[in-house]
Amino acid sequence: MHTKILGTGGYLPSKVRTNADLERMVETSDQWIMERTGISERRVAAPGETTATMGAIAARAALESSGLAPQDIDAVLVATTSSSCAYPSTACEIARELGIANAAAMDLAAACAGFSYAYATAHAMIVAGQARHVLIVGVDICSRICNPHDRTTIILFGDGAGACVLAASDEPGTLAVRLSSDPTCGDLLRLPNPARDEPPSEDNYLLMRGSEVFKHAVVILSRLVDETLAAGGLAPSELDFLVPHQANLRIISATARRLGLDMSQVIVTIGKQGNTSSASVPLALDEGVRSGRIKRGMNILLESFGGGLTWGSALIRF
Ligand code: ACO
Repeated sequence: MHTKILGTGGYLPSKVRTNADLERMVETSDQWIMERTGISERRVAAPGETTATMGAIAARAALESSGLAPQDIDAVLVATTSSSCAYPSTACEIARELGIANAAAMDLAAACAGFSYAYATAHAMIVAGQARHVLIVGVDICSRICNPHDRTTIILFGDGAGACVLAASDEPGTLAVRLSSDPTCGDLLRLPNPARDEPPSEDNYLLMRGSEVFKHAVVILSRLVDETLAAGGLAPSELDFLVPHQANLRIISATARRLGLDMSQVIVTIGKQGNTSSASVPLALDEGVRSGRIKRGMNILLESFGGGLTWGSALIRF
């Protein structure tokens, strides 16, 4: 039994936050942000938008491009760490919005690596015979978890949703998946849940020790891409595209160099989207597919890295 991606979708809120906007919010500059991260703008969810409303739009687009109907979906998996409710889960809310009945539905939390975890779980469910068609969504509203006065995080993150439909297939699509974590580095990236018995506090915002996370990311992602290619039996020269998590253009470039890829073989969305956490990989995948750069039969490598620390990858013959 193999698994293959049938369709992809994405959604970005309409409000744009530029580096000039951030210069008015915190002590920073367009030059600093561009040089250190490669980000020029990011999207911000409107007050009424939630992970469920945004995720549903991306999910509907993925379902439409897959050619399947809502009743064909056996499971809905949503990677997010910014949902409005613990329950109903964002997955249940998306299923309701799309008219998907009788499907398994759950949210998964693995910070920026969430989509890789959801993809690997969907793949395992299909290979185990528990589902034939899984709708996978990555969605986050990072603008609400970042302290608007903290220049070390507010400049990096944006809001968005991406999705894909993974299906049982006779021919190989997913060639290898990898998941891992280093729980001893949890303090490098923290997003505490609000304490219910205490008044609201600024301590509940995302905290990141950026330069330490950066060093771990470069080393771990280099190892991860090597291991994933080896597990899938491909040489780096056989890769057509890298679809990386969009945390920092310098991290993306380092991973591309490791693989011997030209930057024209890397889907880069960070400039206009920032880091959308769980949404960044499926949004980049959707961008690659809809722009016509990623075509059927190509070998693509998805990878992501985030708080936990957690990381994951998927080597795919699209
Ligand atoms: N504008 C201007 N100056 C700033 C800003 C800012 N927005 N932010 C920090 N600085 C200053 C710092 O105070 C520091 O000043 P100092 O030298 O006087 O002390 C200086 O710039 C350098 O700061 P560093 O943190 O060392 O800068 P660095 O080059 O590491 O870039 C960044 C910071 C962009 C955050 C980078 O470390 C990074 O991308 N880290 C990885 C992020 C990541 O991959 N996260 C994982 C996924 S996120 C998740 O899972 C939710």
